[in-house]
Amino acid sequence: LMLFCLCLQLFPPPQKVKPDEESYTLFHGEDFHILLPSKNVEVTFHNKSAPRSKDVHLMREGKVVHSRPKLDRSNTHLLIEAVGEGDEGLYTVKNLEKPDDVKRMSLTVRDCTVEQMVKYGDKFSIHLSGVNRPITLEYRPRAIEARETSKPGLVVLTAAGTSLESYQGRVSLSESYVTLSGVTDADEGSYTVRDNKGGIERKVCLNVKGERFLYLAQTELGFENRLSLEGSLVILDDVNDKDEGLFTIKDLQNFTVSTVHLEMKPYKLETLYVAIIALLGLLAFLLLVCLLSCLIKVKKRAKRAAALEKIAQNAGKEEEGEAFRQVGEKNTPLTM
Ligand SMILES: *[C@@H]1O[C@H](CO)[C@@H](O)[C@H](O)[C@H]1NC(C)=O
Ligand SMILES: *[C@@H]1O[C@H](CO)[C@@H](O)[C@H](O)[C@H]1NC(C)=O
Repeated sequence: LMLFCLCLQLFPPPQKVKPDEESYTLFHGEDFHILLPSKNVEVTFHNKSAPRSKDVHLMREGKVVHSRPKLDRSNTHLLIEAVGEGDEGLYTVKNLEKPDDVKRMSLTVRDCTVEQMVKYGDKFSIHLSGVNRPITLEYRPRAIEARETSKPGLVVLTAAGTSLESYQGRVSLSESYVTLSGVTDADEGSYTVRDNKGGIERKVCLNVKGERFLYLAQTELGFENRLSLEGSLVILDDVNDKDEGLFTIKDLQNFTVSTVHLEMKPYKLETLYVAIIALLGLLAFLLLVCLLSCLIKVKKRAKRAAALEKIAQNAGKEEEGEAFRQVGEKNTPLTM
């Protein structure tokens, strides 16, 4: 029994090491409220923008010990006003009156509050003054930015200066800018610049203009609501014979990107179907021929049978007549 007790002391039952984490997403500039469970709390912050730094204390024994947060008037909430990227991270609230009462809140700040409008095909530049080199550039597509802000971005430009295949020749780094040239709709989304230590230095969203040109043309040419742009694909719906002609896609410098000649063809069945239908037709024809010949045969047979019957009947009558005559001859002849 003593050994058992010793064991229990040496290996205490596992404690709840990682309490549930609640995640919060706020827009840039909104306030973040942290509910305090008692007057005697400890609040720490793990800074996502400076992942290698130690957790900092925001509150210790119920007192605010950091310049960023404030206590609200009722003293029930810790308030972080007008959140920015620097406030992203994990907040841990420990109730010192109840050691089991630990709350973890992870905060994400939506990027797309600083937005740059760039014309289709133009250059998108992010200023780099005061950012320690080498930098990395990360990208999150618009859809992910809107819904899954906490997902890691795609590294467009690494610290070593290499870029993804789809960006090769389009990303350049100068004294004061990182630039993405020839932007298309596929580049829309949020871009993050990190410094040499991995800290977030810039977050800018790219919004590509240019679709408007496409929609401007469609009404006068009768393409209302039929012409659309999906990524780098132009789609024309419900094609009719009035749409026949040459389509030319040009970029903003009037350089022809591609030409498509649209020609309408009458509806054509596939050869296999044609062959099947032809075979079925042949089969039906053969059956018809067979049926007809059968009918003719049956008719012929019926005719022959009828003829035979007549002959037989006539023969019967003649025989009867003969007998009758013979009888008549023997007796008085019948006169009619
Ligand atoms: C988090 O780190 C970033 C980058 O180092 C810094 O600008 C920001 O002030 C830090 N946030 C807090 C609350 O200390
Ligand atoms: C491209 O062509 C259009 C019409 O033909 C013209 O209005 C526009 O100015 C041209 N743009 C450039 C950059 O040459």
